[in-house]
Amino acid sequence: MPENNFDEHIAQTYEDKWPELFDPAVVEPTVSFLAHLAGPGGTALELGVGTGRIALPLSRRGVQVHGIEISRAMVAQLQTKPGAEGIGVTIGDFATTRVGHTFALVYLLRNTITNLTTQDEQVECFRTVAAQLEPGGCFLIEVYVPELRRLPPGQTIHPFAVTSAHLGFEEYDVASQIAISHHFWVVDSRLETRSSPHRYVWPSELDLMARIAGMTLRERWGGWKREPFTSDSRNHVSVWRKPL
Ligand SMILES: C[S@@+](CC[C@H](N)C(=O)[O-])C[C@H]1O[C@@H](n2cnc3c(N)ncnc32)[C@H](O)[C@@H]1O
Repeated sequence: MPENNFDEHIAQTYEDKWPELFDPAVVEPTVSFLAHLAGPGGTALELGVGTGRIALPLSRRGVQVHGIEISRAMVAQLQTKPGAEGIGVTIGDFATTRVGHTFALVYLLRNTITNLTTQDEQVECFRTVAAQLEPGGCFLIEVYVPELRRLPPGQTIHPFAVTSAHLGFEEYDVASQIAISHHFWVVDSRLETRSSPHRYVWPSELDLMARIAGMTLRERWGGWKREPFTSDSRNHVSVWRKPL
């Protein structure tokens, strides 16, 4: 099973490379939103649980969290953290892996749906999720809106991170619906680079995948504080519901 781009080095430096994701101003509204959906004492499954950035604080809020993760290196980092003993982890591909019981909430954060690089895999993920939801349970995805309309005419490159420590560019290929993310970090005066393919996906295509899996859209927001989703939204938080 491939470990994807989240190898030992990325696992050890995940928080240093994306410090903004660990800002309490980001974590707190995310956890509150998820805890509300899971309900008091509820159960939740995080797909691509990583180092437990959200699973750990969600577990502290009384939600029983389980994770699926393909990278043993990311799980090893999770297991060094206080509270990790409360998070069950299944190693596997979340497009197809079933953990053997059902949940009130399944969630997929931070553009991780785009790590599945074919439509077949993304559809399969929705089916696998639906099979693991309780009746009335919810599936939540946080993902960016493709930036195609912001590309200058004839250009394929969109900068998504520009700081003194990190440059990030998305290279769009419309024919294959793949965006390659290129990252450049300066660490101790040395340049580190990474590139990975992602299948970008529109909200409407996700709604269709949900419908194929027997779920319907319950809510869509422009952010975790329930900002309205509009034509200018760059990200969305979408929730589909399995019928009772
Ligand atoms: C962007 S990180 C997000 C980690 C964590 N959810 C967070 O919000 O910090 C994506 C994670 O998903 C995992 N992942 C990517 N594709 C996967 C797959 N097909 N099956 C299981 N895990 C996967 C990666 O190894 C990585 O840990």
